[in-house]
Amino acid sequence: MTAKKKLVISSGAGISAESGISTFRDADGLWEQYPVMDVASADGFARNPALIHKFYNERRAALADVRPNRAHIILKELEKDYDVYVITQNVDDLHERAGSSHVLHLHGELLKMRALDDPSLTFKVTPQTVTTPQTRIDGHLVRPHIVFFQEAVPMFEPATELVHQADVFVIVGTSLVVYPAAALMNYVRPGVPVYYIDPKPSRVPAGVHVIAKKATEGMAELADILTKS
Ligand code: APR
Repeated sequence: MTAKKKLVISSGAGISAESGISTFRDADGLWEQYPVMDVASADGFARNPALIHKFYNERRAALADVRPNRAHIILKELEKDYDVYVITQNVDDLHERAGSSHVLHLHGELLKMRALDDPSLTFKVTPQTVTTPQTRIDGHLVRPHIVFFQEAVPMFEPATELVHQADVFVIVGTSLVVYPAAALMNYVRPGVPVYYIDPKPSRVPAGVHVIAKKATEGMAELADILTKS
């Protein structure tokens, strides 16, 4: 029994778009509706934590109305033929709900809160959970377990190790403008195939296989390519 090849995928907001979750930088994106530095930065949190709690309460509540789409499901199905590791910039739980076995969140998770006095202490919450700057869980004041702009990305190091072990690397639904996530493709070993699925792909180095389609169609096409190779 030969070991399965390792497929590592880096997903962005675009993989959740067909589930009805807004991306950030598309025409109708979240950053068109909210000033990003007020609702998603360390300075913004220091300035007005109540606004940030409200912003993430709303995004968390929306999870109750959405479901994984075909792209998330295809990724789970690829586990039949590959050891699949998902690295996601998304803070929704759609990869988990689709059944993916390994999901690494680079930018945090909507369904977790973090103790202000001990960042290593996180608490699971539900889409119905509403928090304020005064909310305590187990006696700890809490904040959204989200990586804000101006903050470190502690999971980036483990993510680069996964990419370095990949036999196939796939990027889906990201504009590749936010670092360090956008640099993940630089960690593949020489000769490892890289695929990029996005209907409006950003510029990527020559040699990356671009599939300029929506995630549901692009993932179906990729699954065909991978299960035939
Ligand atoms: N299928 C696949 N990709 C899509 C679809 C779709 N149906 N619809 C849109 N896209 C693509 C867009 O073309 C774009 O390239 O998804 C990408 C979304 O880009 P962004 O909105 O910038 O989202 P993302 O790259 O995930 O943002 C990265 O920025 O604000 C921070 O922390 C936030 O994790 C987020 C990070």
